[in-house]
Amino acid sequence: MTNDMSPETNIMDNPDIIRTKISEQYDFRPYPDKPIEEPLPPDAELLFWNSLATIYYVTQKRVINPNGKLILDAGCGTGWKSLGLAAANPGAKVVGVDISPKSVDLATQRLQYHGLADAEFHVLAIEELPNFGLQFDYINCDEVLFFLPEPVAGLRGMKAVLKASGIIRTNLHSAFQRAALYRAQAAFKLLGLIENNPEDLEIGIALEIMDNLRDDVDVKVRTWQQAVGAADELKRSFIARDFLLQGDKGYTIPEMFAMLHSAELEFLGMVNWQDWLVEDLFKEGADDLAFLALTLPELSVEERLHLCELWHPVSRKLDFWCAHPGLDVGEAWDDDSLGDGERVRVHLHPLLVNDEVKLGFIESIQEQKSLDLGGYLGLSLGDTLVIDAVAAECLLGLQEGPLLFSDLVAKWVSLYPEMEVTDALASCRELLMGLESGMVVLFELLGPVVGL
Ligand SMILES: C[S@@+](CC[C@H](N)C(=O)[O-])C[C@H]1O[C@@H](n2cnc3c(N)ncnc32)[C@H](O)[C@@H]1O
Repeated sequence: MTNDMSPETNIMDNPDIIRTKISEQYDFRPYPDKPIEEPLPPDAELLFWNSLATIYYVTQKRVINPNGKLILDAGCGTGWKSLGLAAANPGAKVVGVDISPKSVDLATQRLQYHGLADAEFHVLAIEELPNFGLQFDYINCDEVLFFLPEPVAGLRGMKAVLKASGIIRTNLHSAFQRAALYRAQAAFKLLGLIENNPEDLEIGIALEIMDNLRDDVDVKVRTWQQAVGAADELKRSFIARDFLLQGDKGYTIPEMFAMLHSAELEFLGMVNWQDWLVEDLFKEGADDLAFLALTLPELSVEERLHLCELWHPVSRKLDFWCAHPGLDVGEAWDDDSLGDGERVRVHLHPLLVNDEVKLGFIESIQEQKSLDLGGYLGLSLGDTLVIDAVAAECLLGLQEGPLLFSDLVAKWVSLYPEMEVTDALASCRELLMGLESGMVVLFELLGPVVGL
């Protein structure tokens, strides 16, 4: 006897059906639901972390200028993050793709409204990128990959349109951090509320259930704190965005590495790496514990990250950068190369090369006052990124283009005629290395001089 009814699991395993459901979900409630005309917040740090110059330098110590670069926002939603990418990378072109036609329409309108008519958006699944015909320097795929029926197909799709030297930033939801939320989702699924695209009726029922669960019920304790005291509209948005989210799945670090392995991509680092330092989970650092002091250095990067998520899964996203394997990025500068100042070229971070910052330099010199360069990038590293008027005079030339390390040292020595040359050299080096630690300046190692 044949069974006409396919089991539900088979229907939900069908990638086309899953994609259709997700596209409908985001046509019904495009994300994020920010008004088109809303300007980006005046948040220098946001621009800094969306800047290709920052990302290439953090991951590979490579210096690049965003001008002329091609950026893909894969799963762009309503284009809010595409707007941030465009603003952070003047001269670069942003292209967005998404499977929700409504979202693509809103993204197009948003970037046009903000004067970025050069950006373009297309209705296209990430898995279909190999047919797209463009090659990108940077691919941003934020809050999307975990929706894909097969995330590896998405990674392969992006890899196919990534330039040989390009970088992908993407993320998965954390299975450990969202464990309670996945239980809440499973309960609503069992009650039939995620069967079809959940709309106002289902959202209302789910909200009523969450509000009326006893306050000590485990799933409520672990998932509903954000909603306590929130307005009804905000609670409805939590329900739609998290509790009735179709296609949401959580992953672990070993699963993430296995996906990269299958897609033949190389892990470059975690985007919020400060949250993934296993040593920081200990009161006095791990070195005080003999066993860990011996064991931790022997662990792979994957194992160290996995330990972090097992002990302290605080990050909602496993947010990472990756690239083609074996990328030859050449030699990076080191202390020795700084000794030969003619091999190191110093760049001001591209977000600091503009009239506003140039004026800051000039005012610092004329009024003999200090200048907080980190402030322009939204970074606060104590006094390390604050320079005095003499340093401003030394570095002003970087507004016109990069300079050799040795030229900056020579300029510094000329500004301190009374100082011993070795002392001037040491203080100039200290200044530049401090600024480099905050990426206010970027060092580029030039190839060795070939003998005549
Ligand atoms: C949570 S939203 C994120 C939007 C945007 N990246 C952001 O962070 O603001 C997820 C988006 O991914 C899109 N999406 C889901 N699966 C996709 C796929 N296979 N290909 C392209 N876009 C997809 C959805 O339509 C939705 O707009």
